[in-house]
Amino acid sequence: MKRTLILYASTHHGNTRRLAEAMAEAAGAELCDLLHDPLPDLSGYDLIGMASGIYYGKLHPRIPELLRQLEPRPGQRVFLAYTCGIRYRAYEKPVLELLRQKGIDCAGCYACRGYDTFGPFGKIGGIARGRPSAEELRRGGEFLLGLIGAGARA
Ligand SMILES: Cc1cc2nc3c(=O)[nH]c(=O)nc-3n(C[C@H](O)[C@H](O)[C@H](O)COP(=O)(O)O)c2cc1C
Repeated sequence: MKRTLILYASTHHGNTRRLAEAMAEAAGAELCDLLHDPLPDLSGYDLIGMASGIYYGKLHPRIPELLRQLEPRPGQRVFLAYTCGIRYRAYEKPVLELLRQKGIDCAGCYACRGYDTFGPFGKIGGIARGRPSAEELRRGGEFLLGLIGAGARA
């Protein structure tokens, strides 16, 4: 059985934490709260997910910081996941570029909306209320199962 770890940073409403938990539950992955838990030894995992909300147009800074330090062993894969208020652009692009520079293949990226009360949105009761939805959480789990299956076939 391939070992999968999801590292997540979720500071606003726990939207990304819920997504990471749903993925972990569906696929039997381990979870680590990047902002509160000690970092496990990453060399023991075949697949590592980095999940975050989007803050000022970016993934949480802990994620690029960690990726800069990551020295992946051969065969180790990384995937991204995020929740955002409005997906008006591909927020993952700078991190994908960082992965490319490090020679790490991105196995995939899953994104969905997450309840957002930041700034002016708070005054109107927030946007993307109720997101991620149950369906989006289920699809997140399927996404991860698909990645694990693809790795097993590779
Ligand atoms: C400080 C701050 C900045 C944010 N900036 C953006 C943004 O640039 N684009 C966006 O789509 N959502 C933005 N959001 C909304 C969050 O990405 C969204 O609510 C996300 O689901 C939060 O995830 P979390 O609950 O796991 O922290 C921002 C939220 C906060 C608190």
